[in-house]
Amino acid sequence: MASPALICDTEQWKALQAHVGAIQKTHLRDLMTDAGRCKAMTAEFEGIFLDYSRQQGTVETMDKLFKLAEAAKLKEKIEKMFKGEKINTTENRSVLHVALRAPRDAVINSDGVNVVPEVWSVKDKIKHFSETFRSGSWVGATGKALTNVVSVGIGGSFLGPLFVHTALQTDPEAAESAKGRQLRFLANVDPVDVARSIKDLDPETTLVVVVSKTFTTAETMLNARTLKEWIVSSLGPQAVSKHMIAVSTNLKLVKEFGIDPNNAFAFWDWVGGRYSVCSAVGVLPLSLQYGFPIVQKFLEGASSIDNHFHTSSFEKNIPVLLGLLSVWNVSFLGYPARAILPYSQALEKLAPHIQQLSMESNGKGVSIDGVRLPFEAGEIDFGEPGTNGQHSFYQLIHQGRVIPCDFIGVIKSQQPVYLKGETVSNHDELMSNFFAQPDALAYGKTPEQLHSEKVPENLIPHKTFQGNRPSLSFLLSSLSAYEIGQLLAIYEHRIAVQGFIWGINSFDQWGVELGKSLASQVRKQLHASRMEKKPVEGFNPSSAGLLARFLAVEPSTPYNTTVLPKV
Ligand code: F6P
Repeated sequence: MASPALICDTEQWKALQAHVGAIQKTHLRDLMTDAGRCKAMTAEFEGIFLDYSRQQGTVETMDKLFKLAEAAKLKEKIEKMFKGEKINTTENRSVLHVALRAPRDAVINSDGVNVVPEVWSVKDKIKHFSETFRSGSWVGATGKALTNVVSVGIGGSFLGPLFVHTALQTDPEAAESAKGRQLRFLANVDPVDVARSIKDLDPETTLVVVVSKTFTTAETMLNARTLKEWIVSSLGPQAVSKHMIAVSTNLKLVKEFGIDPNNAFAFWDWVGGRYSVCSAVGVLPLSLQYGFPIVQKFLEGASSIDNHFHTSSFEKNIPVLLGLLSVWNVSFLGYPARAILPYSQALEKLAPHIQQLSMESNGKGVSIDGVRLPFEAGEIDFGEPGTNGQHSFYQLIHQGRVIPCDFIGVIKSQQPVYLKGETVSNHDELMSNFFAQPDALAYGKTPEQLHSEKVPENLIPHKTFQGNRPSLSFLLSSLSAYEIGQLLAIYEHRIAVQGFIWGINSFDQWGVELGKSLASQVRKQLHASRMEKKPVEGFNPSSAGLLARFLAVEPSTPYNTTVLPKV
């Protein structure tokens, strides 16, 4: 019998659908009393402990999910990815971000060529360049050493590096290495972001890294031209070779832009933008700030998870377990969102990175074969570090909509603080919340409990919480470069697992391409109206009205002279 085109047509999918009714009759309050179940619903790898006992499911649910994985040929799909097969079929590309962190002696082929030596030759170049830069041997146009780096890029050329930079900033070893240096990011084409990124910086001591896979992204290229002008207007045109470098797959365009090809760092079309933080996209700016050895530890952490993901049985495989549970929550229990809640301020940029990684990867409406999906794929990701989130959107999570939560806690704080006489240390105070919230969601609060607490009758409905709200808890031993790499790779692979089960292509992004082409029509109109007073034409009445209102006001920057930010 030919295999069904869509996963939802399989017996295994239908078995899970049939199982939902049984699970809906349970309550986490009761499920959590089963010590055997709680123990079974955990997994551990190196210093990472995952407890998924607060998911709405049982060992039987997991068994059915493993069968679904079999039906979706998950093992074969993972194998194809690691073997460099062109699983990104709409772009005819391999998906090999795992090669970016593979050991030097690994063999990973794309188009029959082992890509690992190429990866290491770029890493060696970054190591050498960053050492020269950090030692002060690389000097700018006026002979001064450069201590500030502005990384210009957007989407995958920004969010992953920002996440890692933010997480490393307070790690003592990384902070020590970065003393006296600054790394900033410029992503938004909004001139306000330009102003923020260069505020109080001197071009004399600043290096601009233009990061763009394609080197054609409109926002990045305008920002790159703007910072080029900032450098040139202050130091002269010859300064560009000392103050601007690039990361791209398109070295031809890098050269045309005016950046010395010797100062360009390559990557490859088999690295998706949102999966590129382990390429020069992240490794270069992070090495300039923290030194290559620390970034190498980050890569080793990611590699350890690659190995775990590739070789562990599904029952013990953290990314596989997480991916299957997300499919269960989205496709069977009908929960369309996921909250990412790190109890660590260092992880404050994890959720923004996962938003792109997850939603650009799995926000698809058709199967990999182009068949419209009769079910919803992908989920809405958002998040904020606890405890800030608790004082913001947790009300909705506790009493409003059901949103499966990822709680991420760290055993040892990067920055321990204790005040003599306080009941607990500051980190223990934070972690008290980390341990309490998942139970509050799972158990809720009943009217009986409220009565016994003598809560006034009129407040009973307001203070009642149904509970039975799923979450999972990660406990990391610490948060150094290594664990940051592990966390990144866990999410990357989890998202791939979800896509493999749903049968979609998690590695293209045609929706984003659509947005890019629509903006160009408006850009042309704005130019024609500003320069030649041409009327607004070719838009619907709403857009035409908005554009006319926008154009009716004299622009604050005349179109005949260069204007740079003033702050
Ligand atoms: O956001 C869409 C996207 O195509 C991402 O996939 C990519 O990371 C980003 O734009 C930036 O593209 P580039 O690195 O080519 O400038």
